[in-house]
Amino acid sequence: MQHIKLGQLDVARIGLGAMGMSHGYTGAGTDDAGSIRTVHRALDLGVTFIDTAEVYGPFTNEELVGRALKGRRDQVVLATKFGLISHTGRQGGPDSSPAGVRAAVEGSLKRLGTDHIDLYYQHRVDPGTPIEDTVGALAELVGQGKIRHIGLSEAGPDTIRRAHAVHPVTAVQSEYSLFTRDPEARVLPVLRELNIGFVPFSPLGRGFLTGTIRSTDQFAPTDFRADNPRFTEENFQHNLRLADEVAAIAAQIGVTPAQVALAWLLAQGDDIAPIPGTRHVARVEENAAADAVRLTHEQLAQLTSLPPAAGDTHNEAQMRMMER
Ligand SMILES: NC(=O)c1ccc[n+]([C@@H]2O[C@H](COP(=O)([O-])OP(=O)(O)OC[C@H]3O[C@@H](n4cnc5c(N)ncnc54)[C@H](OP(=O)(O)O)[C@@H]3O)[C@@H](O)[C@H]2O)c1
Repeated sequence: MQHIKLGQLDVARIGLGAMGMSHGYTGAGTDDAGSIRTVHRALDLGVTFIDTAEVYGPFTNEELVGRALKGRRDQVVLATKFGLISHTGRQGGPDSSPAGVRAAVEGSLKRLGTDHIDLYYQHRVDPGTPIEDTVGALAELVGQGKIRHIGLSEAGPDTIRRAHAVHPVTAVQSEYSLFTRDPEARVLPVLRELNIGFVPFSPLGRGFLTGTIRSTDQFAPTDFRADNPRFTEENFQHNLRLADEVAAIAAQIGVTPAQVALAWLLAQGDDIAPIPGTRHVARVEENAAADAVRLTHEQLAQLTSLPPAAGDTHNEAQMRMMER
């Protein structure tokens, strides 16, 4: 597995997102033993970058990751996120107040069974707290050795610049894939200017680009995608064509659609480390093998020129929390 640098942080360039093991998707939380086997297999394959968050579960995903990494913590660049749960009694909305951050980190350290977090992201920008105050509190945590690097998620260019002026930001994590191209216009240029790494989340389009999702009936009512605009009937039918184009290129090369989706992302720069999520050993093997898939200039151009997916990436309430 090839490695890249996110800022100064070395990671294997394909990571593992743990969210769906406990949260958000059909089947989450039903097979912790299988999920732990998946984490172990990922480590054996050279995946070093594991992604979780306090809000996944809530809390249970960090606990699961903590159990999975017992005895293997030093093989991993461990990333988690704070800010969508308030620890200061704030009602509704995000909370990245300095007091909230200081309380959140203690819980995450405990659940993860570690004395430090390698990359600690603000999960969403908090309009109620100046980013300078949040990053000031994070810089103190760096000084105390509780966290090593600072990240932001779904932050816009202005927030990224303001944060980076207080303390270097190592990585920004936002949704990016052939299904969601938004970061290309405004965010990626700023990251490159400031030497900040980029971590595409949902790099498989929440499973869509793998070609295995052919009907909305596949989602349990609790599945995040059941009320996601991308997956509602009309948009879904439109977006199936996108998945079919990816599958056609995969068939030409003799690889899988998931591998094509990841190889396209990897070709976008050596400052990018996607974190595909899966609960299954066979799929983590498939996704990690995308490291060796090379697309030709023609294939890359064909994929890059695919039409945008139809529908917003999140429902209305969630969209309001994202800076664009
Ligand atoms: N910062 C944020 O706000 C944010 C938001 C969302 C996600 N994330 C992070 O990003 C990570 C990845 O995103 P994601 O899980 O939303 O979406 P994703 O990686 O685009 O897709 C995950 C889905 O695809 C399926 N899948 C994975 N590999 C597959 C393969 N090779 N073939 C067929 N299906 C496959 C998984 O199902 P199975 O599990 O059944 O294999 C799962 O349903 C998350 O785990 C989380 O850590 C961050």
